[in-house]
Amino acid sequence: MGPVMCIVGARPNFMKMAPILRALAAHAPPIPALLVHTGQHYDASMSDQLFADLRLPRPDINLEVGSGTHAAQTAEVMKRFEPALDEHRPSCVLVVGDVNSTLACTLVAVKKGVPVAHVEAGLRSYDRKMPEEINRVLTDQVADRLYTTERSALANLQREGVDAARVCFAGNVMIDSLLANRDAARPAADTLRAHGLDPAVLLHPRGYGVVTLHRPSNVDTPQTLAMLLTVLREISAQLPLVFALHPRTRGNIDKFGLGSLLDPATMLLLPPQGYLEMIGLMSGATVVLTDSGGLQEETTALGVPCLTLRENTERPITVEQGTNTMVGRDLAAIRAGVAEILAGKGKRGRVPELWDGHAAERIAADLFLWLRAGAA
Ligand code: UD1
Repeated sequence: MGPVMCIVGARPNFMKMAPILRALAAHAPPIPALLVHTGQHYDASMSDQLFADLRLPRPDINLEVGSGTHAAQTAEVMKRFEPALDEHRPSCVLVVGDVNSTLACTLVAVKKGVPVAHVEAGLRSYDRKMPEEINRVLTDQVADRLYTTERSALANLQREGVDAARVCFAGNVMIDSLLANRDAARPAADTLRAHGLDPAVLLHPRGYGVVTLHRPSNVDTPQTLAMLLTVLREISAQLPLVFALHPRTRGNIDKFGLGSLLDPATMLLLPPQGYLEMIGLMSGATVVLTDSGGLQEETTALGVPCLTLRENTERPITVEQGTNTMVGRDLAAIRAGVAEILAGKGKRGRVPELWDGHAAERIAADLFLWLRAGAA
């Protein structure tokens, strides 16, 4: 059996791929794998630190594409991935999630007749203004084997004409990583101390909140970013907030001159955090305010209330069963959501089906049979 070429590109891919690589190696017989990093994320804090935290092996191949417009980045991944694919003749290409690297490698492989397996298939926000939605729809349309994290994904895929026989409900590999690393999480106080911040703030009677924002729709226009920072500052007067700032957001706060909207006493700014630091920060939080996809799932698994600053979610199970509430960019909804949680009425939720720490094993078992049957 030729190797399975496993693709990672951006931060949210790393925690999904780590358990898959371990499960491929642990399968009997072992399934050979090659790890390809496209280099979409390249900063030490966005990439190397996560590789170390997640005990990911060094990539066998690094395409070093770096940043660019969506077109340039996607095209560059495609150009650089093609010769690697030709050289290694894999039995299949395995992609995860919805980033530009996911779609780029999928397109290259399917056009060369190399089968593609997509992990985290079928999620839909039904918002085509999101670049990730375009990546999801197109990847699922042409990939051969589709692994889903929640049952609603199958209905989404069938609506797009995908044959249910291509779909396998495997559970959530992101939660495999969370459960495998939970005990190694770094205490929030240590994380603050490491960045020269006073951990006493964590002892506030209401606890503390964690904030991450990076979606272009929230951070790329000065008005929206200023509005969100203003409401967050207001919240921070009641509940101190710890921000883990994505490079895009950090850059835009500086570019738009919005630094004065931040109150350094109650809004603690951190650079992008490692995986163990993020789990530690979230686990102890009173609330997480975010526009990330992954954090919506992780807070549900941790039982921590989450307010999602987006109009829609491709992960509805986190709202229906988990701890997630969509508040959009609606200031009244954001304030009401925080007030409810501070009054002790936040969602407790329950852990969704097959978010049990064994999704990657189910994927490896299915992938083996599928490849042996000719990956048709
Ligand atoms: C990408 C994913 C998004 C994911 C996010 C997590 C797509 C379409 N989007 O968005 O789904 O939630 O990653 O972070 O693939 N930058 C750095 N250093 C880095 C990486 C990026 O400084 O290591 C800066 C650059 O200025 C870059 C910008 O961040 O232009 C955006 O990076 P990019 O990978 O294009 O998209 P993200 O917004 O990170």
